[in-house]
Amino acid sequence: MKYREFLRARLKDSIPQNLALPSGFHVVGHVALLHLNPELMEYVTTIGKATLDYDHRLKSVAVKTGPTKGIERRPFYEVVAGSKDTVTLHVENKVRFKFDPVRMTFSGGNKGERIGMSRRIKLGECVVDMFACVGQFALHIAKRNDVNVIAIEINPEAYEFLVENIEMNELEDKVTAVLGNCRIVHPTHVASRVIMGYLHDTETFLPYALETLIKEGGIIHMHKAVSEKTIEENITCITDICRKHEFVPEIEVRKIKNYSPGISHVVFDISVESV
Ligand SMILES: C[S@@+](CC[C@H](N)C(=O)[O-])C[C@H]1O[C@@H](n2cnc3c(N)ncnc32)[C@H](O)[C@@H]1O
Repeated sequence: MKYREFLRARLKDSIPQNLALPSGFHVVGHVALLHLNPELMEYVTTIGKATLDYDHRLKSVAVKTGPTKGIERRPFYEVVAGSKDTVTLHVENKVRFKFDPVRMTFSGGNKGERIGMSRRIKLGECVVDMFACVGQFALHIAKRNDVNVIAIEINPEAYEFLVENIEMNELEDKVTAVLGNCRIVHPTHVASRVIMGYLHDTETFLPYALETLIKEGGIIHMHKAVSEKTIEENITCITDICRKHEFVPEIEVRKIKNYSPGISHVVFDISVESV
């Protein structure tokens, strides 16, 4: 039975019939992440308990209580049913991720890009992941390829999981975790490819990504949340930054997902050669 029908039947005596029940939830390991319309918040515990009964793999149900905030992109969720222990194991394409989805972002909508990126990598590349979090890109890339990955993360809590995940996936020989601000701790002139998996003012980090590349150039995958009408001005801005750093860019734009009304998550694939 579909989730909404299940809730409708189960809660028919406890929730007014005119309220729009959720159609689904995001599962991360044993945790269900649920987004509810404001008028349903007073029934949150009832919906949470029903959700645990709907899917017996779940041990915790957490409801979104506010927007994702800050440079660490910390989500805001509250556990409303089941176990308060939300540290979980999430397996994606045979890569194992341990983390707390209530305290750090792990976007289901980026799964195709994580796996797709791991397939683009060439033998022997050096890849720098400037916004590694718990290893979303770094681990997929290293699991599939014979490469060297440097994964930088500023949030100590996410960094601890990153280190643990590298060990759990037996990727210590391929992935080096670095704790710190990528503007400061990025290595210089080592990478053939740089991943910039961060959506806000990402171009302000582009000079550091360019410094990270080997002198001949390489490719940078710069993610950003943008409105359709600003894509051209973003391309102009990226081109100007690359030229200032004596690189000639070729830029392709791909849409990853809808981000918010009128805003898309896109990736600018920036191939650069030195002038
Ligand atoms: C939204 S998560 C994205 C994780 C992953 N790159 C992805 O695309 O799925 C962004 C991560 O970048 C980290 N971060 C933000 N600013 C940073 C900086 N200046 N240096 C290193 N990490 C940073 C945050 O702590 C967070 O873990």
